[in-house]
Amino acid sequence: MKKLAAGNWKMNGSLAALAEVRALLAAHPAPACEMLLCPPATLLAAMAGVAAGTALAVGGQDCHPQGSGAHTGDISAAMLKEAGAAYVILGHSERRADHGETDALVKAKAEAAHGAGLIPIICVGETEAERDAGKTLGVIGTQLYGSLPKDFTSANLVVAYEPVWAIGTGRTPSLDEIAEVHHYLRARLIAKIGGDATKLRLLYGGSVKPSNAVEIFDVQNVDGALVGGASLKAADFGAIVQALSAA
Ligand code: PGA
Repeated sequence: MKKLAAGNWKMNGSLAALAEVRALLAAHPAPACEMLLCPPATLLAAMAGVAAGTALAVGGQDCHPQGSGAHTGDISAAMLKEAGAAYVILGHSERRADHGETDALVKAKAEAAHGAGLIPIICVGETEAERDAGKTLGVIGTQLYGSLPKDFTSANLVVAYEPVWAIGTGRTPSLDEIAEVHHYLRARLIAKIGGDATKLRLLYGGSVKPSNAVEIFDVQNVDGALVGGASLKAADFGAIVQALSAA
């Protein structure tokens, strides 16, 4: 299994920020892990141009469940693919919160992504109140089972555990807490599809940075990271790529 360092630029970046991508590729032309950046849709084609022929893959941050039609402001999976995407982040907690996305919608989007030949990165994670109430695994299990597309394999799906309270806050769960959730995700996925799920990449996301990447990548069943803020700077994301390559 090739581990995955994925960056989520969210609603950040501009054409000028592609200089960071060039700097990242100059410093890390051939990392041992897979490297992915998911910029805003307006930058996808330009970033794909910079990434062409390099070790960097690009991806979208969302897609519509349908292929085309009267859906003002939305983007289909095939459109992302045509713009150069190989992956698409789906069900990020910011989309679940800002746009009321349900597990059923995330599942439909994931199936649309498969239809277009994209690899969905499905995000799950508990709120702080849910963790305090001891509901973490129950919440994550429900999200996972509700969001999984039919016919998934280790080759066409990635799952990211992103505790909502750890995103953009500088706070992270303990290593034991990360291990507990990742073990649970692995067990649930094995229950669904059997031994192939041992190769399905499970990312941790939420305040990953160069200073905590090494210890997080040492946790069992952590096969990479989904990185927000620290993916915007080549030096920070590069250090995370390096930590993952060495893990
Ligand atoms: P963060 O975001 O690294 O800025 O906490 C992670 C994410 O939302 O994917």
